[in-house]
Amino acid sequence: MEDRELVKLAIEARKNAYVPYSKFQVGAALETEDGSIYTGCNIENASYGATNCGERTAIFKAVSEGHRVIKKIAIVGDMATFTAPCGICRQVIAEFADRNIEIILVKNEQEYIKKTLEEILPGAFTKEDLLK
Ligand code: THU
Repeated sequence: MEDRELVKLAIEARKNAYVPYSKFQVGAALETEDGSIYTGCNIENASYGATNCGERTAIFKAVSEGHRVIKKIAIVGDMATFTAPCGICRQVIAEFADRNIEIILVKNEQEYIKKTLEEILPGAFTKEDLLK
């Protein structure tokens, strides 16, 4: 899928964010190895700690439907700036993606930048480390 289409889907998914506490909406859209598309939003909880980030919602939806490899993911948070994924989400992306995966940080439909996982989580601990 074209980057700009994935960006649009992430912005659309952001509308479903359940954020009564932070009011900070996050949307994500990803493409799996076989071209399937999944979206997600952040889902907060009164206990705060049970909150799930938008990226992880999208990834868990894909994984729970049988996918294991993510090719590309677009993430949009505060639309005044580029929102970077939190540390936990970076680690979850590392579980299901190559270190060169394209991570699209979205400001709005026209403005987005691309990073690789290696750039935002250099030297990640992964399943390969467990096999050494
Ligand atoms: N959040 C995400 O959804 N993704 C991130 O990578 C950063 C943080 C959410 C969690 C919480 O609902 C809100 O943003 C404020 O932290």
